[in-house]
This record gives sequence, structure tokens and C-alpha cells, in this order.
Amino acid sequence: MALPLLLVPSDPLTPRLPDPHFRREADAADGAGLDVAVIDHDAILAGDVPAAVRRVPRSDAPRPAWYRGWMLPAAAYALLATALEARGVRLLTDSDAYRTAHELPGWYDRFTSLTPASVWSPWGPGRLPTAADVGPLVEALDGGPGVVKDYVKSRKHEWYEACYIPELTDVAGATRVVARMVELQEDALAGGIVVRAFEQFEADAGGRSREVRVWWVEGAAVLTTAHPDAVSADAEPVPGEVYDAVGASVQALGAPFVTTDVALRTDGAWRVIEVGDGQVSDLPAGQDPAPLLGALSAVRVTP
Ligand SMILES: Nc1ncnc2c1ncn2[C@@H]1O[C@H](COP(=O)(O)OP(=O)(O)OP(=O)(O)O)[C@@H](O)[C@H]1O
Ligand SMILES: [Mg+2]
Repeated sequence: MALPLLLVPSDPLTPRLPDPHFRREADAADGAGLDVAVIDHDAILAGDVPAAVRRVPRSDAPRPAWYRGWMLPAAAYALLATALEARGVRLLTDSDAYRTAHELPGWYDRFTSLTPASVWSPWGPGRLPTAADVGPLVEALDGGPGVVKDYVKSRKHEWYEACYIPELTDVAGATRVVARMVELQEDALAGGIVVRAFEQFEADAGGRSREVRVWWVEGAAVLTTAHPDAVSADAEPVPGEVYDAVGASVQALGAPFVTTDVALRTDGAWRVIEVGDGQVSDLPAGQDPAPLLGALSAVRVTP
């Protein structure tokens, strides 16, 4: 039974070393008995995947691996998985599972009772949506306020300009916000446009929704942290029944390493704001990575 390998992005300045952002995790992996190898994130995005993996040791027996790094578009992750296979290394999260956990249309159906109602449409960079595109899309929501994002990320820092839609039945107003999101995302636009019903969550001292990130490995909650952008590093206690309900959806999703960002709605219901692939979810800056790397190291795969 092979111990997984941990792959992290290399430091652009010293390419044989992990990127400083992931160095503590690499050290924690080492402490948990995992071998660590670096991959070149910029080379992946530039389309040179063989160069990106050239520092990953070749293995004759299939070697399982986790990735902890910057977000990758699902298509790039699939190329990475193929290039690693050629070196005898198999990502424990295959490219289908990555897309499922990373993009809202992949995970939404398993979380419908736990997450704001959402609609989406594939969209690419380069053309701005018009009212003829946005009207039919938002019609399926009930009206009231909404938020827009792409399949992965929002422009939450440009909230009133490119994220928050005051009234979904105002198609002209909704189109302005959706088009601005598409414009600002430029070539980073992931997959398409998602519009979600707005729900009111309890806010933290910084005025943003107070989110707690629950980390799941093989369907079990292994760590609970604050959201990395939260003003306070203390995660709100999450009731046990919330772990049970969210865990059932995570298990149904089937992806082996997942995060769920949960928040308390002002009416007292715990809701899932988003799901992510755990490999590309950020830890809060002060968080000890040892429990997470310990959980990842405990996964055993029989070849
Ligand atoms: N349906 C919603 N109702 C109310 N607020 C929402 C909703 N969806 C998102 N938000 C707010 O917008 C923020 C950004 O949304 P979301 O987390 O989906 O996007 P993101 O850009 O992926 O953020 P992250 O930085 O967590 O990766 C959330 O933290 C939350 O405060
Ligand atoms: Mg988020």
C-alpha cells in the first residue's frame, strides 16, 4: 500500500523548492511521512505540462498523489493528470472528480437543499452577455436579490458593480452586473455564468458573511477552519447535525478531498455557500496545516 506523494507549486524564484505560500504545508507533509515534489504552475498555464512535471520523480509502480496548490482550470487539471500518469503518478482526485467539486454545476445537484437556488449557462470570455442572454437565465429564479459569479469565482470585491444584483426581475439591471462580472474576469472566466438567489447571512466584524470552512477527506470531516478571508481566525462552532447533513452530500458527490464553506443564515439555518476541491482551497494564514496533511497521509490506496 503506497503512501501518497504531495505535489505543490514550485517557487518561481527557486524552482526546486515549494512556493513560499505552500512551504508550511510541504513541511507538514514531510512531518507526516509524505514525499513532496514540486510542479511548475506557470508552465501548466502556459500549456507546457511536460515541463511542469519534470521535477516529479518517475515511479514504476503506480504512485498515488495529492495536489495542494493554486487553482487550476478543470481542463488544465486534466492535462496535468495525464502528464503525471506518464510518470507513474496518479492523482487521487481524478479529473472528473476535480471538475465536479471545483465548479458549481458539478456539485450543485447534490447540495440543492443546503445551498442558495442557482442557475447557470456556459459562457466564454470575449463577448458580453446582453438582456437576451440574461433574461431567460434569471427567469428560473423567483425574483428578489441575487449574486453572480462564474463557475468557480465571484468578483466579491466589486460587490455592487459585478456581484450583487438588487432585483432579478429587473433584467436591464441584472444584465449590467452580469456583463461587468464577465468583463472583469477577462480570460480567467471559468466555465460560464452562475446566478444565485441572495440569502442573508450573519456578518463578521468586517461586514462579510461569517463563513466556516469544513475540510472533508474521503467523506469524513477532518478539519474545520475559518474562511481564509475572515477577519477572525476563530471558526464559529458548527452543530453536529450540520456536519451530518453536509457530510451526506459530500459523500454522495464522491470526490475524495472537498471543502464546504458554511454560514449561518439570519433565520438560523446553516447553509452551504460553496463547495470546492480541497486541493485548491486555501487555509487561513495562521492555521496549523498538520491536521490536514495528517489526514491526507492516512489515505491508503491498494494498487
Ligand atoms: N447566494 C448568496 N447570498 C448571499 N451572499 C452570497 C451568496 N453567494 C455568495 N455570497 C457572498 O459572496 C461571497 C463570495 O461568494 P463565493 O464564495 O461563492 O465566491 P468566491 O469568489 O468563490 O469566494 P472565495 O473567496 O470564497 O473563493 C461569499 O463569501 C458571500 O459573502
Ligand atoms: Mg467563497
